[in-house]
Amino acid sequence: MKTQSKIWMNGKLVPYNNAKVHVLTHALHYSTAIFEGIRCYNTPKGPMIFRLPEHVERLFKSARMYSMKMPYNKNEISQGIINTVKASKLKECYIRPLAYYGHGVMGLTPTPNKVEVAIACWEWNAGESSAGKTRGARCKVSSWLRIDSRSQPMQAKAASNYANAALARVEALRDGYDEAIMLNYHGKVSEGSAENIFIVNNGKISTPPLNAGILDGITRDSVIKIARSEGLEVIERDIDREDLYVADEVFMTGTAAEVKSVTEIDNVPVGNGKPGEITRKLQDTFFEVSRGKDERYLDWFTPVA
Ligand SMILES: Cc1ncc(COP(=O)(O)O)c(C=O)c1O
Repeated sequence: MKTQSKIWMNGKLVPYNNAKVHVLTHALHYSTAIFEGIRCYNTPKGPMIFRLPEHVERLFKSARMYSMKMPYNKNEISQGIINTVKASKLKECYIRPLAYYGHGVMGLTPTPNKVEVAIACWEWNAGESSAGKTRGARCKVSSWLRIDSRSQPMQAKAASNYANAALARVEALRDGYDEAIMLNYHGKVSEGSAENIFIVNNGKISTPPLNAGILDGITRDSVIKIARSEGLEVIERDIDREDLYVADEVFMTGTAAEVKSVTEIDNVPVGNGKPGEITRKLQDTFFEVSRGKDERYLDWFTPVA
């Protein structure tokens, strides 16, 4: 982490080392925080933020689902994100806007506390598509079930969802895998710990629907749109655990992961155990699109300069 960078806190850019919170911050005790994960790419037209309005929209939806009153409007948050990236002087980075209940009144009820907003950015390695041809991820179907949206709104990108996801991630890593795949309370596939999931069979792509309790991923949406425009069929349907074992290809999508191939699940090779042809094609196209090299998708970018 570059400690010389600045962090936007409640409307002001403050030095990295001064971006502090009180230990009695409500969110630290009760997980009353929502956030976003966004990428800025170095495109031929300079640093550009990928799908900024969609991320800001989702941040505000997350706030609404928790009745959290955002103290800034969407324009102010978007400008705050742009200013944070600009101040970092980074050409490519991962951006983390966060809204949380601050400190003041302890106890479960969050609302007496002020909603605080912070925006940070840092360098984060790009996904597999630019890292070269890897062996793909080895995944484990988690023993932890994805939280059900009858218990909390799973379409909110809320910190509280990530305790469940972190349990699954840690279990998978401890057991020698790279990532977890989580089933929902109905036994259907939901998503990875921080990625959406897709399977490919006979050239057709399927992905769990939003009502499988997943995050409405912006990379998921981008990949669906890209795949369809390349003439590939994509359907949203319930996916069973056994579908994973007989799929020709499996891949995951997310802002951090981009498009990640899955080549083994529970020690069963996926297809021939190598990243599949459609996965590779989508990785390559997503790479071109996200780096601003595909004219058809330039309206997905917001310039930093
Ligand atoms: C639980 C979960 N699902 C899916 C995703 C993918 O969403 P996006 O593509 O918007 O980053 C993420 C990443 O933010 C996530 O944390």
